[in-house]
Amino acid sequence: MNLEAPAGDGADLVARSRALLDRHWRAAGYTVPNEAVYPWQWLWDSCFHALVWNRLGRPDRAIAETRRALGAADPTGFVPHMIYEGVGPDTDFWGRPHTSSITQPPIYGHTLAELHRTGTEVPGDLVAAARAGLVHLLAHRPRHDSGLIPLVHPWESGCDDSPRWDDTLQGDWSRDAWRVRKSELVAEIVRGAGGAPLRNPHFDVAPVGFNALVAFCARELCTVAPDAELAGLADQLASSICGRWDPGAATWVDAGETETGSGRVRTLDAVLALLVDDTPGRVGSAARDLVEPDAFGSPWGPSGVHRAESSFDPVTYWRGPVWPQLGYLAWLALERLGRSAEAAVVAQGVVAGATASGFAEYWDPDTGGGLGAIPQSWSALAALFVDG
Ligand code: GLC
Repeated sequence: MNLEAPAGDGADLVARSRALLDRHWRAAGYTVPNEAVYPWQWLWDSCFHALVWNRLGRPDRAIAETRRALGAADPTGFVPHMIYEGVGPDTDFWGRPHTSSITQPPIYGHTLAELHRTGTEVPGDLVAAARAGLVHLLAHRPRHDSGLIPLVHPWESGCDDSPRWDDTLQGDWSRDAWRVRKSELVAEIVRGAGGAPLRNPHFDVAPVGFNALVAFCARELCTVAPDAELAGLADQLASSICGRWDPGAATWVDAGETETGSGRVRTLDAVLALLVDDTPGRVGSAARDLVEPDAFGSPWGPSGVHRAESSFDPVTYWRGPVWPQLGYLAWLALERLGRSAEAAVVAQGVVAGATASGFAEYWDPDTGGGLGAIPQSWSALAALFVDG
């Protein structure tokens, strides 16, 4: 397969990204992922939008959007993954009005670090709110025996239909059965006195991907404001993640009830362990996989699932398509590890995919054809990879 993606026009891509984000900006101070399918604020989406706003010369919007996301936190630092505006679902569903009661990967640590690196002043209240969100996960949510932080719900991973969770479904995975199970799992979350989610006895999973993002984003926040306690917590978590590499499976393995089965499926979110594990042999193997066409590589960016997995399906939500925000994070890991050749292939693929798919939520790694919500704001991350 030819890994050369069609060359795009950078200025045009930037102009289209700006038009998309402008259209999706809301006066309340955030960007909707999609006007019809996702008409509210989502936590990790907003953290990615803020990176794009900053790239587009609107750090004010980057700050505003991050502030609104973190402003929904409760006194324990728990940050909900959705903030509704106008009509949301019944309060009964989440057990509270206005916001959800689970979280998503705390990308805000990276976002604030990136703003800081590019010369945008990061207000102290945002650093404090981000720290509280990270400490909530690192110190208040009870740990799994493995040392990893457990999820209370697959939605917390941001990758909710990933084959990594398949073993938690009794019986064969199907999108419909999983949809029903995902709703049931919300009611089974065990919460603290103020309602923050603590654990889920019916979803005993502590994934390396989510944990790598927590450890990485905590370290990132420490580059904005040195913080020995936070750095110590991040180092400890990172060392637990490094212990999860399995040379036979050639991936990092999740802890919990999926450990001996679906928790070993080679998914892209697990490869994000590269953000905290720089062991040379692993880096070589994972970096190669990210660009090899018989693994994750495609001209349209890295697929969400390794092609050799029996669950790989190039067109089904979280079962194989390319996701631009995961592509961005994979690129970031490669860049930081000095793997610039593979990083360039990933970046070029995300640009080609975002362009070909019409800025889709996710797309087919075989054709670049758009899937899910179109257009979706986080596709504009491609603007970070071009000049213009
Ligand atoms: C989907 C994705 C999730 C994202 C949300 C809004 O549910 O799985 O990661 O945050 O859409 O874009």
